[in-house]
Amino acid sequence: MTTWVELCCGGAAVSLRLVGGPAVVPPVPYMGGKRQYAGAILGAVGLHAGAGADRVVLCDAGPWGRAWAALVETGGPARVAAYLRAWHERGEQGAALFERIRAEGQDEQSEYGWTAQFLALQCGSAKGVPVRAEPGVNGPWRTSGYAHVAKGARLRGFVERLRPDLLAQRVERLGGAAWPARTIVYRGDARDLDPDAVGATHVYIDPPYVGTTGYEAQMDRDAVLMLARRWASSGAVVAVSEGEPLPIDGWHAVDVSALGAKGHARTFTKSRQEWITVNRCGAMAFDPPRSQLALPL
Ligand SMILES: C[S@@+](CC[C@H](N)C(=O)[O-])C[C@H]1O[C@@H](n2cnc3c(N)ncnc32)[C@H](O)[C@@H]1O
Repeated sequence: MTTWVELCCGGAAVSLRLVGGPAVVPPVPYMGGKRQYAGAILGAVGLHAGAGADRVVLCDAGPWGRAWAALVETGGPARVAAYLRAWHERGEQGAALFERIRAEGQDEQSEYGWTAQFLALQCGSAKGVPVRAEPGVNGPWRTSGYAHVAKGARLRGFVERLRPDLLAQRVERLGGAAWPARTIVYRGDARDLDPDAVGATHVYIDPPYVGTTGYEAQMDRDAVLMLARRWASSGAVVAVSEGEPLPIDGWHAVDVSALGAKGHARTFTKSRQEWITVNRCGAMAFDPPRSQLALPL
């Protein structure tokens, strides 16, 4: 029985890989997203793509915590996609659609409409910078602006970043994820969840990295370490992402950015390193080259 918990889930690339396999991916770019490392991260906790779970808990204190509640419902992705398709049929796309949504503020009439708004803004957000949803009735969306495609790139055939028809297709593919009936989405601070009540077998934590800004919610290094230890002492296999190994006595770290899709070593500069720090080395299902392991911390 697998109870999978993803804290600070954002676009939940790792959870999607677990319940949907390689074909189901986050529909929009997101700063810090783990799509390219999802397989290696699952391997680090002894799981694999498409393995599924008996129970899932997703938690994020930012807009994803609300969006996932709509997207994990049976039929939820199709309902969200219907909004996107309606915008496409009205001829809306690109910067004009992005600005129209921003000007109108948050749609409080429908969770599916709200989620479509969020995904459209996040899709058009320059460099995947997180979109923020300020509280309040029809509260404002905060973005760092639309990712215009440069003239040269257009001439080379690049299309508009925000195409609601294409986004609708990507959202509909989320319907291929086999979320278990017992899936819970919590929009709030990860520290509010009680590990003993949840009974997790596997926990993945992907907090904002030290030195990064821009997320609606934050968690500093001390809080991350405390959170990781609390979930580990409840008996779960716990993995935490960071740009460096985390200093927790007796835990083990692996540089997942040094591994290709099949576990082969690759060379990256330090700025692109992605580390996973895990409480149980034996959980690692793949066979990373010895040179890529730092054992123990
Ligand atoms: C690096 S991103 C996660 C990216 C994700 N793994 C993915 O693949 O898209 C970090 C996330 O942590 C969330 N977050 C930050 N502080 C939090 C807190 N105290 N409780 C819950 N979530 C938090 C942010 O909203 C953000 O979505």
